[in-house]
Amino acid sequence: QATGIPADRVPDMSKRETLNLLLLGALSLPTAGMLVPYGSFLVPPGSGSSTGGTVAKDAVGNDVVAAEWLKSHGPGDRTLTQGLKGDPTYLVVESDRTLATFAINAVCTHLGCVVPFNQAEKKFICPCHGSQYNDQGRVVRGPAPLSLALAHCDVGVDDGKVVFVPWVETDFRTGDAPWWS
Ligand code: FES
Repeated sequence: QATGIPADRVPDMSKRETLNLLLLGALSLPTAGMLVPYGSFLVPPGSGSSTGGTVAKDAVGNDVVAAEWLKSHGPGDRTLTQGLKGDPTYLVVESDRTLATFAINAVCTHLGCVVPFNQAEKKFICPCHGSQYNDQGRVVRGPAPLSLALAHCDVGVDDGKVVFVPWVETDFRTGDAPWWS
């Protein structure tokens, strides 16, 4: 046993590791507690699904079920939900009362204000510096340099929940590569 660890060291080491773990736990508990309010806002609990996307959450944090949503949101409606990475994201109801297969990220590409939808003008109009986007989020007036980001909007086969999936393909509104991915 010239190179082996002496047997009497083993209990000592494991005791020290236990102490270290306890110490770590004591130090990190308050930190974790403080992070919860922010973490739960940015990354909605229970998000994610078999398709690798994020389940949309409504204004009070419940999962959005497509059929239920369409009962209270008519043609042309654009209403905010919590989307990928917690970003405010518009669900789009098409004129035929179906959910669009794309959703629109509400974060202005100028300086990041959340852009409301103006039903009368059928445009997203940023209150901060006046940028405008058409009803699909394509920029039509600056200073915003780019169109609003897109996400795929899928409906779960099993549970009917609305699921956002990152949009990595060409932006169908501009024909450009997606600047956000
Ligand atoms: Fe929207 Fe400036 S942040 S126009």
